[in-house]
Amino acid sequence: MKFGHFDDKEYEYVITNYNTPLPWINYLGQDGFFSLMSNTCGGYMFYKDAKLRRITRFRYNNVPRDYGGRYYYINDNNTIWNPGFLPFKTKLDSYKCRHGLGYTIFESEKNKLKADLLCFVPLNDLCEINQLTLTNNDNKTKNVTLHGVIEWCLWNAVDDQTNFQRNWNIGEVEIDDQTIYHKTEYRERRNHYAFYHTNVKHDGFDSDLDTFIGLYNSWCDPSAVLNKTSYNSAASGWAPIASHMFNIELKPGESKTIIFQTGYVENDDDKKFTSLDVINKEKAYELQNKYNNKEKVEKAFNELKNKWVTLLSTLNVKSDNEKFDRMINIWNQYQCMVTFNMSRSASYYESGTGRGMGFRDSCQDLLGFLHLIPEKSRERIKDIASIQFEDGSTYHQYQPLTKRGNADIGGGFNDDPLWLIAAVSQYIKETGDYTILNDPTPFNNKEGSERPLIDHLRASLNFIITHKGPHGLPLIGRADWNDCLNLNCFSKTPGESFQTTSNFESGKAESVFIAGMFVLYGKEFATILKNIGNVDESNKVLKEVKDIEDATIKYGWDGEWFVRAYDAYCNKVGSHECEDGQIFVEPQGFCTMARIGEDLGYGKKALDSVEKILTNDYGVEILHPCYKEYHLELGEVSSYPRGYKENGSVFCHNNPWIVIANTVIGNNERAFDVYKRNCPAYLEDVSEIHKTEPYIYSQTIAGRDAKNYGEAKNSWLTGTASWTMFAASQAILGIKPDYEGLMIDPHLPKEIKNAKVTRIFRGVKYNITIENNNTSNYQMVVDGKTINGKVIPYDKTKKDVDVRISL
Ligand code: BGC
Ligand code: NOJ
Repeated sequence: MKFGHFDDKEYEYVITNYNTPLPWINYLGQDGFFSLMSNTCGGYMFYKDAKLRRITRFRYNNVPRDYGGRYYYINDNNTIWNPGFLPFKTKLDSYKCRHGLGYTIFESEKNKLKADLLCFVPLNDLCEINQLTLTNNDNKTKNVTLHGVIEWCLWNAVDDQTNFQRNWNIGEVEIDDQTIYHKTEYRERRNHYAFYHTNVKHDGFDSDLDTFIGLYNSWCDPSAVLNKTSYNSAASGWAPIASHMFNIELKPGESKTIIFQTGYVENDDDKKFTSLDVINKEKAYELQNKYNNKEKVEKAFNELKNKWVTLLSTLNVKSDNEKFDRMINIWNQYQCMVTFNMSRSASYYESGTGRGMGFRDSCQDLLGFLHLIPEKSRERIKDIASIQFEDGSTYHQYQPLTKRGNADIGGGFNDDPLWLIAAVSQYIKETGDYTILNDPTPFNNKEGSERPLIDHLRASLNFIITHKGPHGLPLIGRADWNDCLNLNCFSKTPGESFQTTSNFESGKAESVFIAGMFVLYGKEFATILKNIGNVDESNKVLKEVKDIEDATIKYGWDGEWFVRAYDAYCNKVGSHECEDGQIFVEPQGFCTMARIGEDLGYGKKALDSVEKILTNDYGVEILHPCYKEYHLELGEVSSYPRGYKENGSVFCHNNPWIVIANTVIGNNERAFDVYKRNCPAYLEDVSEIHKTEPYIYSQTIAGRDAKNYGEAKNSWLTGTASWTMFAASQAILGIKPDYEGLMIDPHLPKEIKNAKVTRIFRGVKYNITIENNNTSNYQMVVDGKTINGKVIPYDKTKKDVDVRISL
C-alpha cells in the first residue's frame, strides 16, 4: 500500500495520506540551523548541536506520537484544523505534504478553506521560515482565527528533559510587538537567544504554555484555540512558548499570507543588552527584515531550490530504470547530505542527545557524497583526524559544537583508524589533490601536536600492525564495525554499556572483518604512497598487507565462507562449527572487495553462501542463525531478540558491500538483485509492511526470525545512504573517480540496457552513454577515439568530454 507518490520533476515525495505508518520526515537546513519536519508538521529545531543548542522542544516516546512541532491552528466557524492534520486531528478534505530537498510544503483544505504552508531554512541564515497562505474557496466571507505556536526548549536538551527542579524556574521571554524572544539563561552565561516572529501585527499572543493550553488540556485542545482568543501571557519560569494569534477576514476567493519566522541570534558578550533586562535585538531585526514579505521569501526559496539543482547536476543518470535513476539522482544523494550533516545525532530515532559525530560513521558518510562538496569534506576529514591519538587509535565520537573527542564513549574500536584511509583516498581520487596529505592536523586536538595528515594515515596502519592477535589477525578491541560484537565485554550487569565496558582485556579476540579492511585500504594507501614517489614505503605497506592476507587465507576461511572473528578464548565466531551465528555478512563483503583468496575462489564461494543462507525478500541478513541465548563472550549482538538489529535483521549498511563484492566477481545480476531488495523506491508498494519513508534508507529491516518480518526501523541516519550511493554509482553504474582520471567500469544487469550519465569530475563535464548489450566486449570511445583500458585520462584543458561505452 502506498501513502503518496514520487514527483521526480520537482524532486519531491508527495504524501497524500497523513496516516503514514510512522512519521515520515524531512530535514531543513544546511549549515548551522537545522530542523526536523514530519508529515504532520512535527519535529524540532536546533543550532548545530541537537543536544547542546536545542531551540524547540520535542518529547521522544511521547503519547500520542509525534507531538511537538510548529503548529498552525485554524478555527473556521468552530471547525478547528491544522494543515498537517496534527495536533487537532480534524479529518481534512484534502491533504498533501510535499517533502522536497531542504523544504516541506503542506497543501490542505477543509470546508473550502485552503492552507498552503511553505517551510524551509534559507541558505545563509539562521532561521526557519513558515509562510502560510489561507485562501477562501467558498462563496461567502469567512472569519477565521489563526494561532501559530512553537514551544521553546531550554537549550540543553538533556537538562530540559530531566532537571525540572531548576527548569521550572529559569524560563525567560521578552515580548516585543510582533516577536516573542526566548532568552532563558541569556542573562548569565549564554550569548544566544531565539525568537518567533511574524511579519504582520498579531491580534494577541501567548508565551506561557499552561495558559495557552489551559489546565489539564493538551496540544489537541488548547484553550486559546478553543476560545478563539489569546491571553497575552508573559512566561515566567515553567514552560515558555511563543504563540501569535490573528483574526482574519477572507472574502470569497481572497488569499492572505502571513510569514512566521523562528530565528537564532548570537551576540558578543559586551553587546548582549541595550538596558537592564532588554536584550540587544539588532541582529534579530535584520533577520526579520530579510524575510518580511512574500517576494523575499520566494527569492530565498528559489535560491535554495537552485542550489540543490546545481549540486545534483554533478551526477545525473537517465536509464531505462526509473526507480534506479530516482534514487541515484535525488534521494540517495540527498540522504548522504543529511548523514553528512547529522552523522548519527538527530533523527526521529536518534534523540540528538546521545551520539555526536562518529569517527567511523562520518568517514563512511563522506564516501557517497564527497563529489558534491569536496571542500567541506576536506574540513570534515581534518575534524575527524584531529580526534585521533598519536598511536593511531581514536576517540569514537566527537561533539559537533566543540569538536572535541567524546570522553564518555572513549575509544578502542579497532576498525576506526582504517576508515580514515578510506575517506582520504576517496578525497584524492575525486579531486586529484594530494596536498590534503600535507594538511597540518593535530592529535587529540592538542595544540602543537600538528603533523601532516599523511602521518595520521601512517598511524592508522601502524595501529593495526602493532595490535594483532594469536592468528596474526587484527585485534578487535571493544568492537569493529559491528558495534555489538563485543568480544571483551563479558557484561553481566543489567544496563551496563556494551559500548564502553571491557571486563576482560583478553588481548586475543581478533576480527577477520578488520583484516579485510586492512587489505583493502592498506593497498589503497600503498598506491597513494607510490603515486607521491614513496616507493620503498609503499612496498613495506604491501608486505604488511600480504601478511594479513595470508593470515586471513589460513585462519579466516571456514570452507564455504569467511570466518567472522576469534573470541577471547580463541574460538571461532561465524563458523559452521558454531551453534548459532554460523555466518556473518561483513567479512564476506569486505574480504571479497579486498580480493582475499581470489585465485582460490573464496569470494565466489562466500557470495554463494550469502545468497543461499542470508538472503531474504528484503536483502541480506547480517548473520544466521540468530542467537537464541545471551552469550557473555559475544556481547550485545546476542542481546537482541532474534531477527532484530545486529542479531539477524537485514542491517542495510552492509548490503551494498555485497552489491560491490558481486560486481568484483562479475556477478552483475546478483549485484542488482541485492540492490533492489531494500532500495526504498522499490519498496514503496509495501509501505504498510516496511513502515519507514519510501524515499530513504533505514538502518534495519526485521529478518525472517522476527515477529514483524520486513518492518524497517531507524530511518535516515545510517551509513547505508553513503555506501549504497557508492555501490550504485561506482559499482553498478561504474562511474569511478580514480587517481589518474575517471574510470568507467559498468556492471549493469540485463534489465538496464542503456544509460546516459553526466558526471562533473574535477571541473570537467563527462557526457557518458552506456549501451549494455550484455556481452563481455567492453569498448570505450572518448571524443571519437577508441581508448584502451577503462580510465579516461584527466585533461583539464577540456570542458566537455563525450564518452561512449558499449558492453
Ligand atoms: C546499536 C548499534 C550502534 C551502537 C552504538 C547499539 O545499541 O545496536 O547499532 O552502533 O549501539 O551506539
Ligand atoms: C550503527 C553505528 O552507527 C555504526 O557505527 C555501526 O557500525 C553499526 N551500527 C553496526 O553496529
